[in-house]
Amino acid sequence: MKLWEKGAAVDAMMSEFTVGADRAMDVRLARWDVVGSIAHADMLVSVGLLSALDGARLVATLSDLLAEIDSNGFVIDDGVEDVHSQVEQILVERLGDIGKRIHTGRSRNDQVLVDLKLWLRHELRTVRRAVVETAGLLLDLAERHRDVSLPGYTHYQVAMPSSFGLWLGGHAEALIEDLSVLDMAIHAANANPLGSAAGYGSTFPLDREATTRALNFDRVHVTSTFAQMSRGRTEKLAAMAIAQVASTLGRFASDVVLYMSQNFAFVTIPDAFTTGSSIMPHKKNPDVFEVMRARCNRLQALPTEIQLVLGNLPSGYHRDLQFVKDRVIPAIDEVALCLAVLQHVVPHVQPNPSIMQDARYRYIDSVDRVNGLVMQGIPFRDAYRMVADAIANNTYDELPAAPSGAAQAHLGSVDNPGIDELRTRLRRAL
Ligand code: ARG
Repeated sequence: MKLWEKGAAVDAMMSEFTVGADRAMDVRLARWDVVGSIAHADMLVSVGLLSALDGARLVATLSDLLAEIDSNGFVIDDGVEDVHSQVEQILVERLGDIGKRIHTGRSRNDQVLVDLKLWLRHELRTVRRAVVETAGLLLDLAERHRDVSLPGYTHYQVAMPSSFGLWLGGHAEALIEDLSVLDMAIHAANANPLGSAAGYGSTFPLDREATTRALNFDRVHVTSTFAQMSRGRTEKLAAMAIAQVASTLGRFASDVVLYMSQNFAFVTIPDAFTTGSSIMPHKKNPDVFEVMRARCNRLQALPTEIQLVLGNLPSGYHRDLQFVKDRVIPAIDEVALCLAVLQHVVPHVQPNPSIMQDARYRYIDSVDRVNGLVMQGIPFRDAYRMVADAIANNTYDELPAAPSGAAQAHLGSVDNPGIDELRTRLRRAL
């Protein structure tokens, strides 16, 4: 039985097609549907649309249900369309006619909106914490191997000396910058849509500020029309944040895959984190970082997928919007998983401390040699030519030594990667 059934039988194939994966997704929203319902019931009492007694019984039953969900999970029965229908059905089963009063002054349209906002706000905050932790772990590793040299490449060609401090600090800084994108997404989710009902408000004197306070939203969506338009938009901004974090993680993973290749040999990971080959006995493959890269690359399609669903929708509710849910919910799980796995393996990334001794890095300090001549008063362009000639004539080793040392190192260079500054920023972001 559907909430909206009015007597005529509903076609089964049509019903299955329109519900799609929604029931499985809605299970994830169940606790937030109940939290939103408690705020709604309290508000109905405060404006006189529900008696204090009925309100108290509704809230008590919803609170029990919340505890049940938190300990045992939630089941949507066969034939029940969605979480909203199931929660209402449970209230009617347990409270009879009182349960039938809960839907006064609301619609499933603002119900699903509030569920998604509360769920997203919670999940994005969890992702944010994981991003902070991951950045912290990268900084720990950067600190530990701060002064271990690493060849810097441009165009896949040997370029200039770098260090593990600079490499890992760079990826940590990217994650710290990504926090502001997450904050934007959290801000979008932190507004109350309740009271917008089907998208055009209600003739009841609903107290939207009361539900805003009760649900700890930082503001109310003012117009019921925008509250409804925020469906999909909130998810898209969340998707952009997820995609941004995924992009950062994917690029780090890509570095590790490359750096583990024997032709680079910058890093190793313990055998337990590698996979083997069914035919080549010597193999120790970096699958974990390849899979990280693939998952993170795939996640970056998410904003586009959502945008294509929203693209030409007129304002107001459309069932199309349901088909954002089954993309954004698994995507949050996916990015959270990637962060957890990265936190698990990152501390085991081991630098190769002697990589710079490889003959292919013979000229990697050519810029420093130029700088050495510049320090002696030679104009840069002339010094550049002198070093280029020395390389061509095989007299490179006779050039004056390069200026070096932390004393003259600028912030963000090999001798001063700025890990402390990044730690300060990370602390501030908490
Ligand atoms: N499952 C629906 C969704 O995600 C719930 C809202 C249904 N509203 C409606 N008017 N059919 O959008």
